[in-house]
Amino acid sequence: MTDESNAPVFPSSTAAPELSAFPVPSPTPSGTPMTPPAAAQTAGVATIATLGQHEGQSVVIKGWLYNSRESGKLLFPIFRDGTGTVQGVAHVKSVPAEVFSALKGLTQESSVIVTGKVRADKRAPGGYELDVENVEVIQRVPETAPYPITLKDHGVDFLMEHRHLWVRSPRQSAILRIRAEIMRAAAEYFDQNGFIRTDPPILTPAACEGTSTLFPVDYFGDPAFLTQSGQLYIESTALALGKVYSFGPTFRAEKSKTRRHLTEFWMIEPEVAYCDLDGLLELAENFLSHIVQSVLKNRAPELDVIGRDRAKLEAILPPFPRLRYDDAVQMLNQAHKDGHLENAFEYGNDFGSPDETWLSSQFDRPVMVNRYPADVKAFYMEPDPKDPRLALCVDVLAPEGYGEIIGGSQRVSSYELLSSRIDEHKLPREAFEWYLDLRRYGSVPHSGFGMGIERAVAWICGLDHVRETIPFARTLHRIYP
Ligand code: 4AD
Ligand code: MG
Repeated sequence: MTDESNAPVFPSSTAAPELSAFPVPSPTPSGTPMTPPAAAQTAGVATIATLGQHEGQSVVIKGWLYNSRESGKLLFPIFRDGTGTVQGVAHVKSVPAEVFSALKGLTQESSVIVTGKVRADKRAPGGYELDVENVEVIQRVPETAPYPITLKDHGVDFLMEHRHLWVRSPRQSAILRIRAEIMRAAAEYFDQNGFIRTDPPILTPAACEGTSTLFPVDYFGDPAFLTQSGQLYIESTALALGKVYSFGPTFRAEKSKTRRHLTEFWMIEPEVAYCDLDGLLELAENFLSHIVQSVLKNRAPELDVIGRDRAKLEAILPPFPRLRYDDAVQMLNQAHKDGHLENAFEYGNDFGSPDETWLSSQFDRPVMVNRYPADVKAFYMEPDPKDPRLALCVDVLAPEGYGEIIGGSQRVSSYELLSSRIDEHKLPREAFEWYLDLRRYGSVPHSGFGMGIERAVAWICGLDHVRETIPFARTLHRIYP
């Protein structure tokens, strides 16, 4: 029996037959019970996460030695295989001599294929232990050059410098699994709700989110930029297809060194024709709830590995509070008066990090702050007809002080207004002619938002920095490994 969740670690083409002490039997059709193996040779490959399905059976685990304890004649190797960790038990009298000596003193992160019998043990973290029957060492990490990340504490700089290895730790693996679930559930929400995925270009001729954070690229002698957001392009596909989304990497040459900023991050962006700001707020709350509830449903063990308080996530259900910018400013002023915020907030500014942190810690659900002054927001945002100094926009601030995870708005639909905005913002008109066409031919009210995946992962996992939310973070001072 094979586990489809565990991609083969060693493709059979690279494993010399004589290396393989335990040939993997061909998969049995699902539902066919596995005959309890009489000998190790007939044991099937299992993953640590699904050991519970094999209680009392011998299974093969393809993985690595995570850690090991020894006490005289007893060895307690802890194995990991990417799906979890399990403690093995090997007594000098219960395993062949060569197996005992292979395991004894085995170095951390040596790769091993282990056969063992699954035994339920209430005290074990995953509920099961493995009585080791056999072990094949695929590569033994030499004592002279041991695995650099030991189980003691390392500084973050050291860990980031060894990120290519750090991702193996149970905590980092759990975060990456949760990240994958967030991305899967985010796309699933749109796929299940009539949105068509359309992929905008990554090489672009102009800015979408301000000219100060553009990454220039030499495009055969012409200037071009890495995309800051797919928005402008999916406004086009929304007017073609109705409801669309994009999902891909985006880039900002952020000179700021904060725990919320990356220079390369992933954004998922829906865009909807004939949708106003109210419709957008409803979309945002349903979308976010779907993601959080999916993580709770499908990644509960990983949330436990990283010690995330699940009750905080269980509360993430619609409706989310709506807060006008004006009212948010009043809250900030009050907080300043009460001594919670160092600096007084000046009406008309965008919120700084401490402001967002404070606001978002006042609610147990994401709060949807809307109608900021148009002057501090992007050129494409539709003014509020009731007060044109305000933009029909929203920033969704995650609770527990996480701050902005979503930014979005209704878009300017009038040709004249958009045209004058492009001039006011000193944007290169030639690069925006196509975008103006969307207002020349069948313009309609339309709205969309963007959610940064890493900000969402940081919040859902309860991490204090985005550098752990992506396999290889790109920041102001880091582009290695
Ligand atoms: O608020 P932003 O800049 O909005 C846009 O880019 C719109 N064009 C999106 C749209 O309406 N389709 O960015 C959207 C989200 C932010 O809320 C944040 O989650 C994330 O992208 N983000 C970043 N994440 C990490 N590092 C950075 N430097 C980020 N900049 C934005
Ligand atoms: Mg924003």
